[in-house]
Amino acid sequence: MSSKKTQSKNELVLVTGGAGFIGGHLVDALLEHEYRVRVLDNLAPPTHNGKLPKWFNKEAEFQKGDVRSKEDWEKALDGVSFVFHLAAYMDFHPDFSTYIDTNAKSTALLYEVIVEKKYPVKKIIVASSQSVYGEGVYSCTMDGIVHPLPRSEAQLKAGEWEMKCPIDGAPLMPVAQKETDRLSPTIPYGISKKTSEELLFSLGRLYGIPSVALRYTIVHGARQSFRHFYSGVLRQIAVMALAGQPLELHEDGKQVRDYINVHDVVDAHLLVLESPKADFEAFNVGSGRATKVRELAEIIATEAGIPAFIKTSGLYRLGAPRHSPSDNSKLKALGWNPTRTIADGVREYIAWIRQFPEAKQFLADTLRTMKEKRLLR
Ligand SMILES: NC(=O)c1ccc[n+]([C@@H]2O[C@H](COP(=O)([O-])OP(=O)(O)OC[C@H]3O[C@@H](n4cnc5c(N)ncnc54)[C@H](O)[C@@H]3O)[C@@H](O)[C@H]2O)c1
Repeated sequence: MSSKKTQSKNELVLVTGGAGFIGGHLVDALLEHEYRVRVLDNLAPPTHNGKLPKWFNKEAEFQKGDVRSKEDWEKALDGVSFVFHLAAYMDFHPDFSTYIDTNAKSTALLYEVIVEKKYPVKKIIVASSQSVYGEGVYSCTMDGIVHPLPRSEAQLKAGEWEMKCPIDGAPLMPVAQKETDRLSPTIPYGISKKTSEELLFSLGRLYGIPSVALRYTIVHGARQSFRHFYSGVLRQIAVMALAGQPLELHEDGKQVRDYINVHDVVDAHLLVLESPKADFEAFNVGSGRATKVRELAEIIATEAGIPAFIKTSGLYRLGAPRHSPSDNSKLKALGWNPTRTIADGVREYIAWIRQFPEAKQFLADTLRTMKEKRLLR
């Protein structure tokens, strides 16, 4: 996107979760665009170990705090013109209430503090996720567009991976998610992101605060925490590749996903920040390319310089969608132009994770915990 900046110079931007992967890249870009930046982040595991990562931009002001705390929001929002709310609890953990407590309550607190304190915030942009669509939309040759329920545990146990038409049991084809699709999240993470969106649009409109939701697909690039392997096929498979292990994929490896580069995601943030046409809208932030997990594993092997020895484990995560392609035409119509390839993001991640040989042990520990806790079955 164009680097032309339309906001007045030197305004203060708050980035929650700005010590994380996407937030950290966003902080760098905002500083480059001459905004002043404040970060609110609790530096908690699994992403952190209580310390700021080495790459954290020293030009940003850092406030250690928790988005579940009203007091921390009050301090963080003082003097702020724009807010990017990225801090979140993620993945498939069994402490379901933490998702609501972190992702939904924090959004309510954000508006509560702004309204109560009459803080003159001009725009709020919240990180949502394609998880709000749940299993999404499929097409049946006989019955047209259908909204199947997530696969049952019995179906998954039997290794019947593909979706079936809820009307006649026929095989289904996935349809790329559009912003106008009904939101039907299947896991607490997605439910908390949907609730967060409902709060931001209703409170944003009621109190006249332009608000935007960005529904990212799967984001790739450097700085994804080397301690954190609860989700993200690139992270797991790249570490297996570098360790010379077989690349073990869940289910049969034919799941369709959409992978987007973090720099394209950052460009999307700058665009919606500076475009009034984005106000009160939700946007998919994906590449628009439907890619099988197996194809991603082949790209990882190539970029890691190893032969692609790909295995399927037949393991699955309860509530994970079978396919999740994404339609990015709405954001493109606003002027967004994602330019990076999947191989770019894979290369950036591999170069990054090579610096942390300890990642192999973190991956092994995480996979063991996921099996013990039945997050991976
Ligand atoms: N990475 C992806 O592929 C992806 C996909 C869809 C949506 N998202 C969303 O993007 C956002 C950023 O994700 P990321 O991949 O950069 O993750 P990340 O873990 O690297 O960054 C999240 C940051 O939030 C902070 N944080 C978590 N809980 C907090 C709390 N209670 N108070 C203060 N700070 C807290 C963490 O310390 C971390 O620095 C999240 O909202 C996530 O749901 C990410």
